[in-house]
Amino acid sequence: MSTSFPSGFIYKPEYFNLPAQTALLDAVSACARGDAPFWQPTMPRTGQPLSVVMTNFGPLGWVTDKDKGYRYEERHPKTGKLWPEMPQALLDVWYDLTDYPAPPEACLINWYREGSRMGMHVDLDEEDQNAPVVSISLGDPARYRIGGQTRGGKTHSLKLSSGDVVVLGGEARKCYHGVDKLYYGQSSLVPKGGRINLTLRRVNK
Ligand code: SIN
Ligand code: FE2
Repeated sequence: MSTSFPSGFIYKPEYFNLPAQTALLDAVSACARGDAPFWQPTMPRTGQPLSVVMTNFGPLGWVTDKDKGYRYEERHPKTGKLWPEMPQALLDVWYDLTDYPAPPEACLINWYREGSRMGMHVDLDEEDQNAPVVSISLGDPARYRIGGQTRGGKTHSLKLSSGDVVVLGGEARKCYHGVDKLYYGQSSLVPKGGRINLTLRRVNK
């Protein structure tokens, strides 16, 4: 990998093989069919919809809406139910790729459909800003972008494909990143099309 990526950025292409990718997608489908359907989140203040729809696994889930903004909640905002349990495979990848001593509390599930993207941002809603973030790509490829710790600086991009895993630790944990483009329709792995991104985060210290 190019040395131009920030330190603490780890890229593991094809970390998950096809059967493992399918098993993760089955877990996501069961989650969405059960207590935690995908919902359309909205931006703080403006109430503008995000272009992704989302749900979560784990004791905490990341949510956003017009009135209360970005935060973690124990319950789904629409059903009021607890989030489904974090699959063991996600705990396994966390302990394999990080040396963080405690488990992730949240797995945000973002579903990118045709035209979805994710603007440049830093993950800032966690009390523990030192814990790494682990991000898993499933389905259609996407162009991922990562810059430095200030908005608008030089950036580098990387095409993430199904099964790839990225870790944002160290300096990279504080860097701006986003998804500029979805290569919609290139993979048939996600039954209804698009890309599923799973983001594992530790919230509390
Ligand atoms: C994010 O950082 O919020 C999502 C990253 C991704 O979809 O790969
Ligand atoms: Fe992020």
